[in-house]
Amino acid sequence: MRSLTGLQPSGKLHIGNYFGAMLPAIQLQEKGEAFYFIADYHAMTSTQDPKQLAENIQELAIDFLACGLNPDKAVFFRQSAIPEVHELAWILSTVCPMGLLERCHSYKDKVAKGISANHGLFAYPVLMAADILLYDANVVPVGEDQKQHLEVTRDIVAKINDVYGEGLLTMPEPRIRTEIAKVPGTDGEKMSKSYGNTIPLFGDTMKSVRKVVMKIVTDTTPLEEPKPIEGSNIIALYKLFANEAEMSQMVADFQAGGMGYGDFKQRLFDAYWDYFSPMRDKKEELKKEPGYIDEVLAKGAEKARENANIVLSRVRKATGLVSV
Ligand code: ADP
Ligand code: TRP
Repeated sequence: MRSLTGLQPSGKLHIGNYFGAMLPAIQLQEKGEAFYFIADYHAMTSTQDPKQLAENIQELAIDFLACGLNPDKAVFFRQSAIPEVHELAWILSTVCPMGLLERCHSYKDKVAKGISANHGLFAYPVLMAADILLYDANVVPVGEDQKQHLEVTRDIVAKINDVYGEGLLTMPEPRIRTEIAKVPGTDGEKMSKSYGNTIPLFGDTMKSVRKVVMKIVTDTTPLEEPKPIEGSNIIALYKLFANEAEMSQMVADFQAGGMGYGDFKQRLFDAYWDYFSPMRDKKEELKKEPGYIDEVLAKGAEKARENANIVLSRVRKATGLVSV
């Protein structure tokens, strides 16, 4: 089994990214081959400040390694280190129906939000399909919001294999952990950097993150009364960090009444802070050795390129670009 996922270096990571995509990826690296990359070409659809993009790339690499990506187990690389992905993306685009892309929610949502409807944004799912197919990936750990992009990838595989021969490209499966597929933000909507409702994975200071957690939206149940469990953001977030006993205690305290939301938020914050404490330490260590990050990414790119060339030469032959 080969798992693969990409993360865009398009801003500070939040705990939705961690639980939805990074943690499942880190767990999968123990179970087979793993290819994880920094989707820097994709990030160009939203970040056009060169300095910012370069910084985001470096920070994402550090954060992913700090969270447990093991470069001895997983191939970790930058998407742009393998520009061959564009050759495959072009070939895929010649079999990809327009309607498939026109239906994509992510494209429609971004345009509705005022992001310019450029070709990169429209063709985004085709490049994503190429990312996956270039490495013969079987399993793709992502959050719920990427499900449709995976469906596009699967449709493209069916189409190209139909045109050029069964088995040419590998059919991937999304791996969406439904219980944490949608981590809620501080306002109860899906946590997303575009909604301004995120809890950062690595905040600037303890105080700044605590302030964010204290802003979590709750109902107006008075302090002395029992609090509803259903629909509570605090409960949904606490579940990500707490063990069974801690969770039962929290639920019991909610139901007992007599405790205010401020106390529960503090408990959530403490659990969050402890959970990420070893990762914060690791991040500080990694920041001291930028040469190490470059080395990891260069080594990863070398391995990724080997695999990419195997698939590309298969595709070039099957399509007639190279005569056999
Ligand atoms: P954002 O919505 O903040 O822009 P991205 O689109 O960059 O996040 O998502 C990166 C990865 O993190 C994707 O695999 C996505 O599915 C996952 N992800 C993002 N937000 C959440 C969330 N709230 N819950 C679970 N997974 C998420
Ligand atoms: N579109 C993904 C996101 O926004 C990032 C991504 C790019 C990706 N290529 C990929 C994810 C390939 C999985 C596989 O999160």
